[in-house]
Amino acid sequence: MGAAQRPTDRAGIDWPARLHVVTGKGGTGKTSVAAALALGLAAGGRRTLLVEVEGRQGIAQLFGTEPLPYAERHLVDAPGGGTVAALAVDAEEALLEYLDMFYKLGAAGRALRKFGAIDFATTIAPGLRDVLLTGKVKEATTRTVDQRRVYDAVVLDAPPTGRIGRFLNVTAETARLAKMGPIKTQSDGVSALLRSPMTAVHVVTLLEEMPVQETVDAIAELTSLGFGVGRVIVNGTRAPLPTGRLVTEAELTRGLRAAGLPASTGIVTGLHHEARDLMIRRELEDSLRTDLVDLGVPLVELPLLPDGVNRAGLEVLAAALVQAD
Ligand SMILES: Nc1ncnc2c1ncn2[C@@H]1O[C@H](COP(=O)(O)OP(=O)(O)O)[C@@H](O)[C@H]1O
Ligand SMILES: [Mg+2]
Repeated sequence: MGAAQRPTDRAGIDWPARLHVVTGKGGTGKTSVAAALALGLAAGGRRTLLVEVEGRQGIAQLFGTEPLPYAERHLVDAPGGGTVAALAVDAEEALLEYLDMFYKLGAAGRALRKFGAIDFATTIAPGLRDVLLTGKVKEATTRTVDQRRVYDAVVLDAPPTGRIGRFLNVTAETARLAKMGPIKTQSDGVSALLRSPMTAVHVVTLLEEMPVQETVDAIAELTSLGFGVGRVIVNGTRAPLPTGRLVTEAELTRGLRAAGLPASTGIVTGLHHEARDLMIRRELEDSLRTDLVDLGVPLVELPLLPDGVNRAGLEVLAAALVQAD
């Protein structure tokens, strides 16, 4: 779609990719960030699709809706117009859909499922499972109706950093399963999309040692496999401390007295210890932030929300993503 055809002169995020793959160490906020990104991309009038592939129903939990079926459905409206749809891709359903597409199985497909053949296929060959999941994501990303794209952007709440390379590297996995035929064709098509400028992989992290290390490792792996890294999204950040140095005990005493609060030696010493710990923690965060900057991938910082990620919090995260654009 050319710039002139865009619905509005952007209230939303304008990152170049069409398919946004969101990974990160588990628990860093992958699902929350993927949802906020889908909202931010939709803001101002676009249609986005938020997809999950791990059978966790994380999207339904986040939005407080019924578990998502294997069908796209409207999830929420975005600020300033635009819509977010959601889909939970299920490997079994994707396999049936896929078999049906190539072999016109119909009722035979349903029988297959009944006899457990599907379970067999998906349990035995993880590579096949991943090519089915990513294949469905590709289908949704590239789908058109009347030569018009159904979704302006697709956001994938992807597997965590430890599994992302293998998950996206479908060709290598399926090469061992199929040298030719529809599975090979399918995985080649998926691989081409995932390695094209249409796809960006974003890595969510916290300013903590393990997630940052996994971010560094994941970016090296993704890059070596030929995937484009979009953004490093630093989640749960706190505003910088007002003073650049450690407050003294004398200052604490004066401050407490001025505020009419008790300022016994015990209280002052306790507070001073806490201030020192906080200072050390912030210094560690600064050094981790530097490690991330050194990766040469644009960073986006999202605030730590005092009440966790509810609907209002999601809007805050989406707005922060829009603003950072
Ligand atoms: N920016 C944030 N501020 C506060 N809490 C957050 C933030 N991002 C995520 N969380 C909370 O952290 C937990 C994990 O988030 P989630 O998105 O489910 O992570 P993941 O998908 O990586 O496991 C949830 O309880 C969520 O509400
Ligand atoms: Mg999650």
